[in-house]
Amino acid sequence: MKAIIGIGFFIFLGLFAALLTGFGGNLTQGSLPYDEVQEGLDDRIIIKFSHVVAENTPKGLAAEKFAQLAAEKTHGRVEVQIYPNGILYSDQDEADGLMRGDIQMIAPAFSKLSNLIPAWLALDLPFAFRDQAEVDQALQGEIGQMLFRTLEEKNMFGLAFWNNGFKQMSSKLKPLITPEDFTGQRFRIMPSKVIEMQFQLLHAKAVPISFNEVYRSLERDEVEGQENTISNIYTKRLYTVQKYMTLSNHAYLGYAVIMNKTFWEKLPPDIQSELAEAMQETTEWANRQAVSMNERQLQELKATGLHIHQLTPKEREKWEAAFQPIYDHYAPVIGRELMSKIAELQKQREE
Ligand code: LMR
Repeated sequence: MKAIIGIGFFIFLGLFAALLTGFGGNLTQGSLPYDEVQEGLDDRIIIKFSHVVAENTPKGLAAEKFAQLAAEKTHGRVEVQIYPNGILYSDQDEADGLMRGDIQMIAPAFSKLSNLIPAWLALDLPFAFRDQAEVDQALQGEIGQMLFRTLEEKNMFGLAFWNNGFKQMSSKLKPLITPEDFTGQRFRIMPSKVIEMQFQLLHAKAVPISFNEVYRSLERDEVEGQENTISNIYTKRLYTVQKYMTLSNHAYLGYAVIMNKTFWEKLPPDIQSELAEAMQETTEWANRQAVSMNERQLQELKATGLHIHQLTPKEREKWEAAFQPIYDHYAPVIGRELMSKIAELQKQREE
């Protein structure tokens, strides 16, 4: 009798779990109440979208906007379920989750793709881009297309690039003005060989830590400093465990918005084009938001006790000189074609 109750209990648990997970993450889900006005609701498509930042960040807001537009444009046939703050997957395993098809959509920072596909290190090169216009030119042009093509062999499909902003340096120990100021300090980094070398060249230690652990690591003195965008420093309250920030704009942090390629290819063509339209509108909206959000939150940061230094052009030259070996060292890894596209962009700036 006990055994029967036990088996019954496990069957119940199994059914409950299946209900929660949508019966193995199939493309469609058929357990909705019947509504004759919304024809075809039985074929609703669920897209699980996992990301690691807060909801009130450029990426968090963009994800919500996309979910809303996707539902509108497909008349409710597509439901994008968003899992923010790394609640479903941390940044270290979201790409694996996507490739396996456990989730359908992610938007990792470029650096997080670089261990899987080294060509993405190109976007981590320090001072590769001078301003947002140069970043846009790179991503909307051949550099973006070349990078998107690299995703395919990993069963990933690139939908768009979303902006966040330039990274700024911060520390709890001392102002970071000259390359020598970094000596001996430990900095949290995203997993990227280029970023690692960047700190090695400054005689500092680079410690890869997942985004959700950054605050705690700084609080517990496991690292003294970090680099990130204004919006991430602000929304994750990193400024409360840092004393000095340098507006260095030394490298860019943006996102590749990616779907599982098999999943994308199985979508009906009308849904694909409605989602592409939703993505384009989202991207235009989100990229404007990102700029204004970083500007607004910089003003907020200025009102806290954080000491903020704006790197002067003269100081920047010293940083650039210190980072120069990265270009030669990583050119063969990144590939000649991508490196020459970046060089072309920089040349245009000088003309
Ligand atoms: C980070 O790890 O610092 C960023 O990738 C977080 C994010 O996704 O903006």
